[in-house]
Amino acid sequence: MSKNKSSRNKTIELSENDVVQLETKLLTPDSKLDKENLINKTILGDALEIIDYLPNHFVDLLFVDPPYNMNKVFGAKSFKEMDSGEYEVWVRSWLSKLVDKLKPTASVYICGDWRSSSALFRVLDDYFQIRNRITWEREKGRGAKTNWKNSSEDIWFATVSEDYYFDVEAVKLKKKVIAPYRDDSGKPKDWSEEERGNFRLTHPSNLWTDLSVPFWSMPENTNHPTQKPEKLVAKIILASSRKGDVILDPFLGSGTTSVVAKKLGRLYVGIEMDKYFACVAERRLEMAETDHRIQGYADGVFWERNVNPENNAADDINYQRLLL
Ligand SMILES: C[S@@+](CC[C@H](N)C(=O)[O-])C[C@H]1O[C@@H](n2cnc3c(N)ncnc32)[C@H](O)[C@@H]1O
Repeated sequence: MSKNKSSRNKTIELSENDVVQLETKLLTPDSKLDKENLINKTILGDALEIIDYLPNHFVDLLFVDPPYNMNKVFGAKSFKEMDSGEYEVWVRSWLSKLVDKLKPTASVYICGDWRSSSALFRVLDDYFQIRNRITWEREKGRGAKTNWKNSSEDIWFATVSEDYYFDVEAVKLKKKVIAPYRDDSGKPKDWSEEERGNFRLTHPSNLWTDLSVPFWSMPENTNHPTQKPEKLVAKIILASSRKGDVILDPFLGSGTTSVVAKKLGRLYVGIEMDKYFACVAERRLEMAETDHRIQGYADGVFWERNVNPENNAADDINYQRLLL
């Protein structure tokens, strides 16, 4: 735990003792695994090798947040930027091996920034049916003097076949109504009057602007450099899996996918090659035993940023910070 940490700073950090205790929970396989052995586990190792140990056709939802094509340090290891052709070869080296691990009804989501996105599209297109590209506004990003600030990321959505599950009702967005329209009898048209204001449930689009990247006062925050928001992963899991389905994340990082899967009653398998972050995932999974809250998701709906006082408290703070 770092010294001088403000009491409002909720960042999850591990001591050396924590790592020693948590690493006993990790799987470190060196031969084929059965589904029973690996469900709800974090596997410590190189995904490119571990994928070969996984059984075939056991995954309902594959969520992949790979290193993007840029120089980035992940704990003890780092990823080196390549030319886009080399990056495409690297993506193909693991995605091609994951195809057999999926059920014929499975869905696939893969994240990337603008630089990585075209390589991801080309490889996905060779193995899957691409259905959409979600773009999310990441907000945070370094300003540049000679370029546009990079504040968005893509998430490609694909399926193995035409037969796939998608529950749009589970991912509706609750928005404030700006211009409340009433019918001839004076009743609200497609919106409702509530204590907190006037709201409308809307169909989620492929442009996501209601997310904050995790930051220091959010309980989900860790010291992983590229942690995804739980709210983002919750949208994907709720839309594209049922309770009890198996979700695989081969680049688990701080554990967001497994944690959200657990909170939403799904089964999970995660692979991460950095021991510290694999242990952070286990710590978050312990915390999820008793705390199932997902910031920005409450009462079965996703709330627009800055609206739900109970669940978006940190979103509000972040939003105000961004306005400064
Ligand atoms: C973009 S991050 C994932 C972040 C994650 N979605 C989260 O919310 O924390 C990619 C992760 O993949 C891990 N990684 C990179 N190459 C790997 C490999 N060959 N096998 C397993 N993990 C790898 C890195 O250590 C890093 O934590």
